[in-house]
Amino acid sequence: MEQSSSRNPDLQDLHVGIIMDGNGRWARRQGLARLEGHRAGALAVHRSIAAARSLGVGVLTLFAFSEDNWQRAPGEVATLLELFEDFLREETDWLRAAAIRLSVIGRRDRLPHSLVEAIEHVEELTAAGRAMDLRLAIDYSGRQAILRAAERVGDGSPVTAEEFSRLLAGASHAPAASVNIDLLIRTGGERRLSDLPLWEAAHAELYFTDRMWPDFDASDLALALDDFRRRERRFGRIPELAAT
Ligand code: FPP
Repeated sequence: MEQSSSRNPDLQDLHVGIIMDGNGRWARRQGLARLEGHRAGALAVHRSIAAARSLGVGVLTLFAFSEDNWQRAPGEVATLLELFEDFLREETDWLRAAAIRLSVIGRRDRLPHSLVEAIEHVEELTAAGRAMDLRLAIDYSGRQAILRAAERVGDGSPVTAEEFSRLLAGASHAPAASVNIDLLIRTGGERRLSDLPLWEAAHAELYFTDRMWPDFDASDLALALDDFRRRERRFGRIPELAAT
């Protein structure tokens, strides 16, 4: 199937990462079980992907499940893994029609077999998508990703940042082209990285919002992007030279 591109030239090279936080607190405030917060969070995932796609974002990375999240109650972990699998199976057709290429980054060896199958299926069916790269981080740890990439360095000879980025992408099932995050959003009012993007966020602009993830919508994403556009990115240079 021919898949068209509708990237906005303004944002097509932009890589937005989102640490989705606040499902549990959102549920508690509504008098609901945490599970309901995660269910509402899954709807916000769909909304955010659609919003990023229509705003023309080039790469969207959603951090869904960190290595530390295995420490949650077994019932909650099982629910989350089921939600991920349901999401992948239910959204495949839509992602394909929207020309969104999905990759799941992180470890796969601890995931249920049926989830790995769903991941491989959706990755294969959406591989031709060119409108937006969507990366979903499941069982992801920034430190572990760096350690696994370091193991691949080999004979101790020097490596460049670009080469290491490729090793890191390879070690995390990520498409090599999309490592550097430009704008990192965290919802839920916390201001930390939680061992999620480390190498990828080296030059990221950080944006924190008190909005709980299940309430996050297209207008919140647009606000974050507006804020990003107003930032002066200097990459350590002095302002006069930054524009050259
Ligand atoms: C953080 O909120 C959220 C998670 C650890 C799980 C993320 C899951 C989703 C967004 C829903 C499903 C996702 C997909 C891809 C279908 P929290 O539980 O830590 O909230 P809290 O800090 O308020 O307790």
